[in-house]
Amino acid sequence: MTYPDVYKAAEDRYENAKFRRSGQTGLKLPEITLGLWHNFGNDRPLNTQREILRAAFDAGVTHFDLANNYGPPPGSAEENFGRIFAQDFKPHREELLISSKAGWRMQDGPYGFGGSRKYIVGSCDASLKRMGLDYVDIFYHHRPDPETPIEETISALDFLVRSGRALYVGVSSYSPELTRRAQKIARELGTPLTIHQPSYSMFNRWIEDSLLETCAEEGMGVIAFSALAQGLLSNRYLDGVPEHSRLGEHKMSEDFLNEDTLKAIRELHSIAEQRGQTLAQMAIAWVLRRPEVTSALIGASSVEQLHQNIAALDAAPFSEEELNKIDQWATDRGINQWQGATESV
Ligand SMILES: NC(=O)c1ccc[n+]([C@@H]2O[C@H](COP(=O)([O-])OP(=O)(O)OC[C@H]3O[C@@H](n4cnc5c(N)ncnc54)[C@H](OP(=O)(O)O)[C@@H]3O)[C@@H](O)[C@H]2O)c1
Repeated sequence: MTYPDVYKAAEDRYENAKFRRSGQTGLKLPEITLGLWHNFGNDRPLNTQREILRAAFDAGVTHFDLANNYGPPPGSAEENFGRIFAQDFKPHREELLISSKAGWRMQDGPYGFGGSRKYIVGSCDASLKRMGLDYVDIFYHHRPDPETPIEETISALDFLVRSGRALYVGVSSYSPELTRRAQKIARELGTPLTIHQPSYSMFNRWIEDSLLETCAEEGMGVIAFSALAQGLLSNRYLDGVPEHSRLGEHKMSEDFLNEDTLKAIRELHSIAEQRGQTLAQMAIAWVLRRPEVTSALIGASSVEQLHQNIAALDAAPFSEEELNKIDQWATDRGINQWQGATESV
């Protein structure tokens, strides 16, 4: 497929788009956000990336989620996004929410990991340069850091906003207790946290214990990442492991797909079929059934996947009976690889 060199955004892009307010803030997010963790590094053709990003924006997905370390190699997803942004999206800058993060390992040395002011501010500047942006819309602390006082991390986020580098700030994978502490400090500084980004899916339900309630009480929105459990909650692995898939390319732990989990996938697939949906669509609708969830943060390796996922928003609401049936199979499957970071503080 060839692409016109000059991108003209679809005129009807907002016709079916749905938005939700992030907690008690003024910021609205699309119900589906596209993340660039995988599929946007230098291991993927730039044209495919461009095609997926264009298709997303054309369908009303106004939010792209990045981080300093997305690739491979780390930094390349931001560079590639920057190239495509310059070619296609620059005239639409004010229509877009672009987020980035720092916290996980980015580069060697003491300033390439954690939550110090040195790492966060330096990393934000590097992200802006890679993407060719003057500011990001949301900047996150990507994971708790047990070595840095939370006051230092949150004051660095406050500084990003005051210095014009970010419009809003948030945290990712913070426990309920740490979220409360962080929000108290942020409020005292005058830059309340707008949003929390935790993992959440039918196979990873930790946020239902108390994080969802905490965020609601603290006025924060929730953007739920890996809503498809990295592709497990789809038809991707029903007939084995495709060579070109997250599991086939060893970008996800092989332990995540065991016999028990495959059985649950098959059962959920059949419930989705009865609803007239694909499993991926049901997984997205399920995450969005919670009013505390502002946006379902998904990935896609093709335009077809993206289109299928966006169509999840047309689904009928779940009946009590359907939710009960899903609950039998929607249980924690040991796939929360971010749990260690959450529990580190
Ligand atoms: N804050 C954090 O610490 C953190 C951590 C992880 C992710 N995130 C964010 O969350 C975003 C989403 O994470 P994720 O990529 O793990 O999300 P995901 O939506 O759970 O998984 C995406 C993968 O699922 C497969 N897929 C998607 N739609 C499909 C469909 N309709 N049918 C079949 N397979 C489908 C694709 O896998 P194949 O490649 O096999 O086709 C795709 O790459 C990331 O890009 C990032 O922005 C944040």
